Amino acid sequence: MRAAPAVAGMKHNGIRTIMDLAMSGTRPDLIRLEIGEPGFPTPAHVVRAADEAAAAGRTKYTANAGIPELRAALSDKIKRVNGFDARPEDIVVTAGGVQALFATLTALVEPGDDILIPDPAWPNYIAFGKILGASTTAYSLAPETGFLPDLAELERLVTPRTKVLMLNSPSNPVGSVFPAGTLAELIAFAERNDLWIVSDECYDQVVFDDTFASTAAVGGAERTISVFTFSKTYAMTGWRIGYLAAPPSLAEIITRLQEPMVSCISTPGQYAALAALTGPQDEQRAMVETYRANRDLAVGEFAAHGFDVYRPQGAFYLWMRTGNRDLDGMEIAKRLITEHGVAVGPGPAFGERSGEYIRLSLAASADDLREGIRRICASGLLHPAGRF
Ligand SMILES: Cc1ncc(COP(=O)(O)O)c(C=O)c1O
Repeated sequence: MRAAPAVAGMKHNGIRTIMDLAMSGTRPDLIRLEIGEPGFPTPAHVVRAADEAAAAGRTKYTANAGIPELRAALSDKIKRVNGFDARPEDIVVTAGGVQALFATLTALVEPGDDILIPDPAWPNYIAFGKILGASTTAYSLAPETGFLPDLAELERLVTPRTKVLMLNSPSNPVGSVFPAGTLAELIAFAERNDLWIVSDECYDQVVFDDTFASTAAVGGAERTISVFTFSKTYAMTGWRIGYLAAPPSLAEIITRLQEPMVSCISTPGQYAALAALTGPQDEQRAMVETYRANRDLAVGEFAAHGFDVYRPQGAFYLWMRTGNRDLDGMEIAKRLITEHGVAVGPGPAFGERSGEYIRLSLAASADDLREGIRRICASGLLHPAGRF
């Protein structure tokens, strides 16, 4: 007997390798900058809403796509924040952004299809392809293009097998935000090649200026599935609540897919999400201000050590070139933990072209960030490499 080969052969992603090493407890003074989640607690009124929902007996299955009140509130949010129209019936509540992406790709791709994904990218994109029997082809987010997609490269990479163009803005791990003009070009590219666009906008409300635009607000709404989450916006990673907005025919298919995949999302959790959306937003705004202050602090500290690092416009990461030609980002990340007491995300986990990078989380305290950066710079493992 054997497990399915595509899945049995899947490797642990490299960020987990570093997290496991970080949690092994060998360095009590370890500074953890490898984690991709807010350090803040979930706002108290959100937790209370889940408590109250459970106490009131809201503990049964819901509709596959989520409770009507939440989908109506999400339709309002998408109009207000993302600037496009999505009817409540075209919105599906999911087990985090990750399951929104997986359900969407399950609905779209067949074995043998190809998915265009960024490099660097969140490692799960490659895993989705593997599970579904689809291939993934990486397009670069390179410093030369301001970490934005290069249309000429995409034109070279697209084939008759390409089914989906995956976009992620603000980007994890880079923090680049795709301007509306870039999105318009990407939509035109998708139209020319008859591609679906899966637009991962899980950091849509973790942005530091006003350049963020949602793909579906720029155009191509009939071929775009937009994916969002409560995890990052409201410090709700453990609640597992995300959502997607899809063109009507596809929303209906994904809704039906939810039955065998998850049936529905935790009912008290959906009421918590509703409270997060409709309640006070001051804590959410304060979190973004903290990430912005941390970004400025980190860029400034690195500059003081002679490193010209890319200034992210969204998400809460700093994507940094190591300038070390002898050791790759994984090797450097391991040595930073064991020899210097600071954990960072290893570049190679994010793509084959990202070996010379590490990722730092800005969702840490200012003190940890300052001390972590001091340790990184003092390690001698990174060399100023010119621009980014
Ligand atoms: C780019 C990106 N997309 C999607 C997600 C999904 O997050 P969640 O499943 O917690 O909503 C993450 C989480 O780190 C992410 O970085």
